[in-house]
Amino acid sequence: ATANIGVVGLAVMGSNLARNLASREGNTVAVYNRTYARTEELITEHPEAGFVASESIDDFVASLTKPRTAIIMVQAGKGTDAVIEQLVERFEPGDIIVDGGNANFHDTIEREKRIAPTGIHFVGTGISGGEEGALKGPSIMPGGSEESYETLGPILESIAAVAEGEPCVTHVGTDGAGHFVKMIHNGIEYADMQLIAEAYDLLRTVGGLEPAAIADVFTEWNKGYLESYLIEITAEVLRQVDAETGKPFVDIVLDQAGSKGTGVWTVQNALDLGVPVGGIAEAVFARAVSSKPAQREAVQKVVTSRPDVQKVDSSFADDVSKALYASKVVAYAQGFDAIIAGAEKYGWNINKDKIAKIWRGGCIIRAQFLNRIADAYDENPDIATLLEAPYFADAVAEGEAAWRRVVSTAALSGVPIPGFGAALSYYDSLAVPRLPAALVQGQRDFFGAHTYKRVDKEGTFHTLWSGDRTEIETEGSSH
Ligand code: 6PG
Repeated sequence: ATANIGVVGLAVMGSNLARNLASREGNTVAVYNRTYARTEELITEHPEAGFVASESIDDFVASLTKPRTAIIMVQAGKGTDAVIEQLVERFEPGDIIVDGGNANFHDTIEREKRIAPTGIHFVGTGISGGEEGALKGPSIMPGGSEESYETLGPILESIAAVAEGEPCVTHVGTDGAGHFVKMIHNGIEYADMQLIAEAYDLLRTVGGLEPAAIADVFTEWNKGYLESYLIEITAEVLRQVDAETGKPFVDIVLDQAGSKGTGVWTVQNALDLGVPVGGIAEAVFARAVSSKPAQREAVQKVVTSRPDVQKVDSSFADDVSKALYASKVVAYAQGFDAIIAGAEKYGWNINKDKIAKIWRGGCIIRAQFLNRIADAYDENPDIATLLEAPYFADAVAEGEAAWRRVVSTAALSGVPIPGFGAALSYYDSLAVPRLPAALVQGQRDFFGAHTYKRVDKEGTFHTLWSGDRTEIETEGSSH
């Protein structure tokens, strides 16, 4: 046995991760794929990696030094369990199985529980950064036991992206914590992408700019407070011209966005946790709306006229950038709220400041902005929301007027802005001293005697709506 780390599953993410591992001093990397042809292709294309290749899973396991450590990089769900079983059958107590796919954290918790009695460590790990990240340095979010991290940590630190001198990896928490945090990362990713897409739509439809000009605007934005990988690649996508038709690339792509599940999971789990993540949910729904051609066509048929687009001046792009920033702050605040609630429910000790730091590099949502989030939680880990942190409170206050102008301009112009709109409504819901929830309580009490609490005294009350409408005090608490 000569390899200190193995990779199972050599599709693009797996082979890039294996190459990344092999390029770091001290690592010898064993590789295995269900079909050997793929393994052969990889070792032939990359002799410099010095891979230890195996045709059989037995040889692969035998090629690993102890404690054996193998990272599974197969498509989440299907296939993952089969590979896990193969390894569990052959590994020994103290060995480590890492699932680096986008697994559902509930599955990870179950798998860990199932494997724990064997003494083998099972570590569900979020890995973000796409193909390039896997090769050059991703952001890595491992869960699993503290003990497994002693072996795994240094290996992951050797391949992770580096942001301001620190590797973008941390032991997130036990069992499913890593995959949970990766799921939230993806939820935020969905929101960020949707908000950027809405900004583009506004600049084009209301601002009258062509894709190439919008690309230039985004490139400018990428030098300021909106600096991020997603803004940077958006500019590149907008600058792309279709070779066949000469049209902007963005005009020849079918406008129906797909998804693989992590965004949906974020919202499903937020619902279970009772955490409002409207900004993220609207991004998930926006993809769903886009992919419903029947409904879109039906409404387009009955709609005879669309509103005139509002006239705007040269300050519009600046307004949009501020609306984008404020909405983005909301989406991240909601994402971190979900992390806090998940940590509480599942008993994870998650360091929010650390999570923000490992997202500064390598991952899809990487941005300078994450430094501000890290600072906020570093200053006070117990803030109720990121929106109360002085930096973000000031930033949102500064952009608030522009945010409102953009949302109203979009509404009057008929430009759909589910992300901007939901974010602003969420902000207003937190900011107003009173919500119409009092009326909802009244309605619930009217038809279902659900009871209510009063602002002026303790206790739980019910009004005799179908009687003389006097109020009685009831036992128990209102809910
Ligand atoms: C990443 C990405 C990556 C992938 C997601 C989202 O962090 O590297 O999030 O995991 O792109 O699966 O994909 P969908 O948009 O298809 O859900």
